[in-house]
Amino acid sequence: MSRKRVVLTGLMTLLMFGAGCTREVSFKQDVFPILSDNCLSCHKLGTEGYIKSGLSMEDYGGLMKGTKFGPVIIPGSHINSTLIILLERKGHPSINMPKDKPGLPESKVELIRKWIDQGAKNN
Ligand code: HEC
Repeated sequence: MSRKRVVLTGLMTLLMFGAGCTREVSFKQDVFPILSDNCLSCHKLGTEGYIKSGLSMEDYGGLMKGTKFGPVIIPGSHINSTLIILLERKGHPSINMPKDKPGLPESKVELIRKWIDQGAKNN
């Protein structure tokens, strides 16, 4: 390879890598629609998930507040976030989410993981 070619290939790789890394997951555009479609029916005021756990997903504030026992999302660490553990079906069968329904597709769980690891921002 010519020197010019090497530099060009290097630059392209850097650009592609950079673009992949900086793509920030948005709460409003990516995460909220998933929760709204799959969780909100049980996790808003007056519904069974809310009544039993205290977890409301009506807005960012409710989601971050968590259940009556505390947060289910730890910004920066999906590994420590109960919400992800339940979405990965690693909790007790009776509380894996969405409750009594098939799990979410991996691509959606992955988006939520990324959003948490990027700081779980209200973006
Ligand atoms: C069919 C109703 C239903 C749906 C849909 C549902 N949930 Fe739940 N959720 C519940 C109930 C009921 C509880 C309380 C479980 C218990 O304590 O027995 C709960 C509890 C939880 C908890 C707290 C668990 C804990 O630590 O006590 C989390 C986190 C949660 N849900 C996340 C979700 C997410 C994320 C979704 C959507 C992907 C979802 N839920 C969809 C009914 C539902």
